[in-house]
Amino acid sequence: MKVEKVETPDTGAILRVDHLSKEFQLNGTGQHVLEDIHFTVQRGELICIVGKSGCGKTTLLKIIGGFLTPTSGCVLLNGNPVKKPGTDRCFVFQEDALFPWLTVEENIAFGLRKPSNGNSRHQREVERFLSLVGLTDFRKYLPREISGGMKQRVALARVLILKPRVLLMDEPFGALDAHTREEMRDLLLSLWDQLEQTILFVTHDVSEAVLLADRILVMDKAPGRIRREIRVPLARPRKNYEGQVPRFTRELSESLREKSEDD
Ligand SMILES: Nc1ncnc2c1ncn2[C@@H]1O[C@H](COP(=O)(O)OP(=O)(O)O)[C@@H](O)[C@H]1O
Ligand SMILES: [Mg+2]
Repeated sequence: MKVEKVETPDTGAILRVDHLSKEFQLNGTGQHVLEDIHFTVQRGELICIVGKSGCGKTTLLKIIGGFLTPTSGCVLLNGNPVKKPGTDRCFVFQEDALFPWLTVEENIAFGLRKPSNGNSRHQREVERFLSLVGLTDFRKYLPREISGGMKQRVALARVLILKPRVLLMDEPFGALDAHTREEMRDLLLSLWDQLEQTILFVTHDVSEAVLLADRILVMDKAPGRIRREIRVPLARPRKNYEGQVPRFTRELSESLREKSEDD
């Protein structure tokens, strides 16, 4: 088995999740959803979080995003505790959150501060991100006039244009067909590379994690814990149909299955 646990040196850590736990109160009883989640993310890393449905992945991202507060522990971004949402942490969800009455271009420009005088820099940025996600020719379209994959391109562009310190992605390609999903993964990797973006990407699909990640955090359920941390040692570009990726995916899936049978 080639997968191994790694100790990541803490130099250049942009994000630290520090012994974080979360309990929800439901009908007067506490539900322990996350327990002692602890990891760091280095600047420019692409981390995938893999785990079964209900293991707390979305809850963890929402705490990092500042939308939920942890019961104990904390999240540090550049050494500062996260207390509320901010444009330094942007989300992309499975369902696109575009404004239906705005065009592609207006959706992408929405979060940028409007320039008070002259708009050439503002417009240049919008042009750049339209081009980066391949939607220059669709700039005047409304969300209802474009495909699901194109909507997710807009969703990516409208947050990346804000230059977040960390991009938080919650099963963003889960609703797309297999071919579009593959295109979106390629696009994401290209944007990650060009923009040197730090990304936390949640998926329940081990093969997707192996295609994308520098490191994979594998979560257990009830309570949600990080069971293993695995570095993916495969060179990029990684293609699903080439020997190494399926082999690594199979070995990883088997080792995770063996481990859960032991539990
Ligand atoms: N606001 C909430 N109140 C109570 N329980 C919640 C809330 N949000 C999530 N949960 C519970 O926490 C657990 C983890 O949910 P979630 O983070 O959505 O998991 P995942 O994203 O891995 O599928 C589930 O059992 C879910 O029912
Ligand atoms: Mg979820």
